[in-house]
Amino acid sequence: MNILHISVECYPIAKVGGLADVVGALPKYQTSLGHDVSVILPFHDNEFTESASLEKIYKGNVQLGDCIHSYSIHKLITPYLGFTVYMVRIPRLLDRTMVYGHQDETERFVTFQKVVLNWLSSEKIKMDIIHCHDHHTGLIPFMTTHTEAYIDLQNTPTVFTIHNAQYQGQISYDNLYYLPSFDRKKIGLIDWDHRINPLATGIKNAWKVTTVSPNYMKELQESANGLENLLRNENKKCVGILNGIDTETWDPETDPMLIKNYKISTLVSGRKANKKWLCDNFDLSIEKPLFAFIGRLVGEKGADLLPDIIEESLGNTDINFLILGSGNQETEEKLRSLRERFMDRYHVHIGYDEQLSHIIYGGADFLLMPSRVEPCGLNQMYALRYGTIPIVRRTGGLKDTVIDIGDGGFGICHDQSLVWDVCYSIKRAIALYQDQTAYKRLQRQIMKIDHSWNRSAQEYLDLYNSLIQLK
Ligand code: ADP
Ligand code: GLC
Repeated sequence: MNILHISVECYPIAKVGGLADVVGALPKYQTSLGHDVSVILPFHDNEFTESASLEKIYKGNVQLGDCIHSYSIHKLITPYLGFTVYMVRIPRLLDRTMVYGHQDETERFVTFQKVVLNWLSSEKIKMDIIHCHDHHTGLIPFMTTHTEAYIDLQNTPTVFTIHNAQYQGQISYDNLYYLPSFDRKKIGLIDWDHRINPLATGIKNAWKVTTVSPNYMKELQESANGLENLLRNENKKCVGILNGIDTETWDPETDPMLIKNYKISTLVSGRKANKKWLCDNFDLSIEKPLFAFIGRLVGEKGADLLPDIIEESLGNTDINFLILGSGNQETEEKLRSLRERFMDRYHVHIGYDEQLSHIIYGGADFLLMPSRVEPCGLNQMYALRYGTIPIVRRTGGLKDTVIDIGDGGFGICHDQSLVWDVCYSIKRAIALYQDQTAYKRLQRQIMKIDHSWNRSAQEYLDLYNSLIQLK
């Protein structure tokens, strides 16, 4: 099968969160199963592309409203990531460092989508499957099916994966002229609540809609920022497929980012070396259990609860806390100011640091995920693979991947995103940590859990096959 993934993130080229991890791993597994898999993304001006070798393979023009943009498509030659990679470059539009946060996001993402289709149809490139990820690519299933400009792609099945329904990428009708012309009777296929809604468009027009865990699909059909009715109506074409992790990149035995590598039989000494590095660098003490949080400091992740959780738990128990993340400024400020009060037991690193995240998975004792919304969550799976016990709120994919120790499982779970609930889970974790035999047994158990992409990559392939048979 010829498969094209379209996304704005892809690890290690451009990563903001889990979308990059998925788009950097699923294609690799699909390739190893014998398929011809490519990823296309916007060009990002960053360390990766600076040192990569790229070959310009195509040049063309694309119209966006009154503007005509010249674009070029570049193929990644080295490093080889295990699948083919193409990047779309447009001077001053698609050649920036930051993936998100630009004023002209609508222009960037709409142009990107049009370029991909423009290139495919001009070059008569035949794909068996076009797989779109998140709202940045949600207009594609509409454009391939209902616009004259890309009529030759009409029979190519499209799959649309929702990684996060919080972000829908709404566009005002003032910008309708950005889209290629189509029969206005079909306007309902891009509309939601009197705006162009790329997430809703993906759901309405794709041949199949997936999301990143079975439980999140159920939750979305109950509540999806207004799209729940749509998802219920489209139920027949919707399915939740649990994300996997790239067990090659995330392997404590070979991970070059760790201070010391380890496997199950050497986990105690290996993890101790990583914890020692963390404690030395962040003025913490190695004897105390280390609780960590890694992630975007936003409401979805329950990050606003962290200052109170830290204050409450450090006030009453003798543990250490380490936070890695960035996001909401007020939360960042509160987290910074707590340092003064708990100098020797708490540290926060505001920012994005891939290596530090790996060392935390390899050295912290517990990983907190008090998420209000978590479509899948990869952190808990990395934590499990590295022997760090996850403490999670039962929501989205966290519910599908972590079972509480009280239910014969291997993690610590609570039902609400409330300070009190999280602090109670922390107390349960401390009790577990005090019984070092049970704690280490659990670590060995979780490191054996297989969350690799093997199973889910095959699920996607089965889904693609079912669509190809419909043609
Ligand atoms: P989301 O995509 O919603 O942010 P996921 O759990 O799917 O959440 O994935 C988050 C990914 O981003 C993980 O690989 C995690 O380790 C990484 N990550 C998040 N914040 C940071 C950070 N500040 N520094 C390094 N890695 C981070
Ligand atoms: C989104 C979700 C996260 C998920 C990731 C990869 O960013 O917030 O839960 O793991 O996508 O699918």
